Amino acid sequence: MTEKIVQHRQAADQFYKVFGEQPTHVAQAPGRINVIGEHIDYCGGLVMPMTIKQQTRGYYRFTGRSEVRVFSDRFDALNRFNPLDVMRLPSGSWGDYVQGLLKIGAHRQLGRGFDLWLTSDLSGGGLSSSASLLALLAMVNHHALSEQIVDDSNSSFRLTLALLCQQVENNFVGVPSGVMDPVSILMGGLIKLDCRTLKFERLRPIPESHCLVVMDTGMPRTLAASGYAERVREIAQIESFHSGVNHRQGLAQLDAGTADSILSGLSDPKLKARARHIFSEQARVEKAAEALSEGNLSRLGHLMNESHRSLSEDYQVSCGPLDQITQASRDSGLALGARMTGAGFGGCAIALVAKIDVEQHNAVVAASYQKQTGVKPMLLIAESGNGARIDAL
Ligand code: GLA
Repeated sequence: MTEKIVQHRQAADQFYKVFGEQPTHVAQAPGRINVIGEHIDYCGGLVMPMTIKQQTRGYYRFTGRSEVRVFSDRFDALNRFNPLDVMRLPSGSWGDYVQGLLKIGAHRQLGRGFDLWLTSDLSGGGLSSSASLLALLAMVNHHALSEQIVDDSNSSFRLTLALLCQQVENNFVGVPSGVMDPVSILMGGLIKLDCRTLKFERLRPIPESHCLVVMDTGMPRTLAASGYAERVREIAQIESFHSGVNHRQGLAQLDAGTADSILSGLSDPKLKARARHIFSEQARVEKAAEALSEGNLSRLGHLMNESHRSLSEDYQVSCGPLDQITQASRDSGLALGARMTGAGFGGCAIALVAKIDVEQHNAVVAASYQKQTGVKPMLLIAESGNGARIDAL
């Protein structure tokens, strides 16, 4: 029996314990890392996310009733939702994602309810567990309403679902996140995404000889509680100062001349540094895509180091543990580059390492980080995963 079948059987048993029936379908939505292009999706920049094997899985069946019941294995809790209760306000718990998706995803028809049992192996912050949950819910909700399963090749509908997920997070949960995570999770693989036009390109994978190591600092954070919203506000402030320029295309994609004039016009050193990160990160993504297509991994690694420095010094979204773990990786002499990934303020970093050196790299990083912080980091190889999907059981 394959590992997947065993996994599905065990989950079906758990489903039966909670709901007294067997699930008919499984929805799987991966987590993601971001190779480069950090904190520029919400101002129209280029990003380079890659989905990973770690995922959220949801087993479900339609009930013919209206109520939606969701059990979270992680929180060991069953929540009930009335889709017609569109006036319900967020309560600050994981149930907000379900309620928000039902509300904004227009789940108003009677008799379209379902029972859903959720589990996840996306432990570390920074791997986008919340967008993964939302993408899964969006796929299941669409299935419940239309009786259709979104197929893999329907990119334009998947983009629509990604925008729906972003709206739920922005307008119901209350986090002003960009569009990178849901697009990445719904599309799968390694992509270069233009967050202004939503055009995306599938990139050549990291060559077989090398891999990206995910380094979880063990320091959790939530987007809601972090300085994420403050950064989004700072960028809006910079854009509003320069209403004369064509910033409808987003701060990240301005031409070099306009970018220079914005930089020299900003008198507040903090805002100047924020803008410097946006412009320099955008340029690094272009170069990183080039480096990857040429197979020039040392250049890619160098750009990752530069990206981390910019996020730490100019954008100030790194933190002690992220700086320590990435520095330990560089100091090992075995990584081509290392940087934080995702929103920052804790969570995960990534390092580009030759496969032959991974074991030694991980041992050195774990020892050094543990010595400095007292925390044993979790290190794993990021294997590229599929986009979100649904299968009949
Ligand atoms: C979080 C957000 C994304 C993006 C990253 C930083 O993951 O959800 O939209 O802004 O942070 O690049």
